[in-house]
Amino acid sequence: MPGLKEIDPEIAAVIRSETKRQAFMLDLIASENFASEAVLEAQGSILTNKYAEGYPNKRYYGGCEFVDGAENLAITRGKKVFGADHINVQPHSGSQANMAVYFSVLKPGDTILGMSITHGGHLTHGSPVSFSGKFYHVVKYGVTRETQTIDYDSVKRLARDNRPALIVVGASSYPRIIDFEPFRSIADEVGAYLMVDMAHIAGLIAAGLHPNPVPLADFVTSTTHKTLRGPRGGLILCKKEFAKTVDACVFPGIQGGPLMHAIAAKAVAFKEALTTEFRNYQKQVISNAATLGEELQKKGCELVTGGTDTHLILVNLGNTGLSGKIAEEALDAAGITVNKNGIPFDTKSPVVTSGIRIGTPAVTTRGMKEDEMTVIADLISQVLGNVDDKPTIKRVRDKVSDLCTRFPLYQSRLKE
Ligand SMILES: Cc1ncc(COP(=O)(O)O)c(C=O)c1O
Repeated sequence: MPGLKEIDPEIAAVIRSETKRQAFMLDLIASENFASEAVLEAQGSILTNKYAEGYPNKRYYGGCEFVDGAENLAITRGKKVFGADHINVQPHSGSQANMAVYFSVLKPGDTILGMSITHGGHLTHGSPVSFSGKFYHVVKYGVTRETQTIDYDSVKRLARDNRPALIVVGASSYPRIIDFEPFRSIADEVGAYLMVDMAHIAGLIAAGLHPNPVPLADFVTSTTHKTLRGPRGGLILCKKEFAKTVDACVFPGIQGGPLMHAIAAKAVAFKEALTTEFRNYQKQVISNAATLGEELQKKGCELVTGGTDTHLILVNLGNTGLSGKIAEEALDAAGITVNKNGIPFDTKSPVVTSGIRIGTPAVTTRGMKEDEMTVIADLISQVLGNVDDKPTIKRVRDKVSDLCTRFPLYQSRLKE
């Protein structure tokens, strides 16, 4: 069969350009990572051809004996990684995982208590533009003005006043360890279910470097492609008593046929997550984020909460006079990819923002350590201090390219 280059040179060119972009730019997007060649091989395999509606040994299609093997491996390994009673590895994404949990225990109009997106929560935790904010009555909690950390007292007060059916814990831009215990006791007091969305911190949890919500929460959802470094996708962990209803809500509730190539790649990622190398990698991710934050502070940057315990930092650009949008664009021009991000109590719109979010999972996968974080902090601060100065942007871009060349990525793919 002819290959991609012959059949579709335009798409082949897109892939080549994107491979180069990933290899020669600094990826500091906190939700991104570089999957291993093994994960990519499984995800790009012929398993994509197979329909397998249902679950292992209970499929609606013939010929599933081999893909059953892949899903069973993903199930066994995923349960081991997180110490869970039950796992569903079929959600196509983190949003689908959250939707399936909501559908399993909520009726339209029920109340959910979730973290406000403007304080670090995710769209699917009740934002009005997401299904979660349209189907349910949403009450939002956030962080305190003083410490910018989760306001557990207000969570308790809001739960008592509003009696939510479900409390959602988890965030997309929260740099501190989340204490799940107070959420469990609040949920017990008001008779709510507790769901933890660990999408951002799943890799840290797998490595034992962040408290594991699985023993405390009724449901834990995640993406598989952020710190966990697997293929793009989602998963749900839950107690045995919810296993049947969660499975039924994923299929046939909200999805059709599972993506067997993605499930096989999840199995590979879970196998990787059980290794000592993975634990060491996660330790380095945290150490790199801490160093990057400290070095940026030395250059005058203000960090939300004053620092980080995790893989990400949130820079409050207030004292620079820059918006997140301007900073993102200038850094991008210099070869450094970050995203603009609202900060707690932001007065700017979500498309402008007063902050940028910076994460270390991807650069750490390339092998970068504390010394490189010091260099990167210097490059970022040069750009932020000279957003309109073309020679500075060009000089930083060249330095970024040199740095990336010293930490090669996907080398065999670059030759293709
Ligand atoms: C906390 C959290 N939950 C869920 C998601 C949604 O994941 P997906 O983009 O796979 O739907 C994200 C993605 O950014 C996230 O940060």
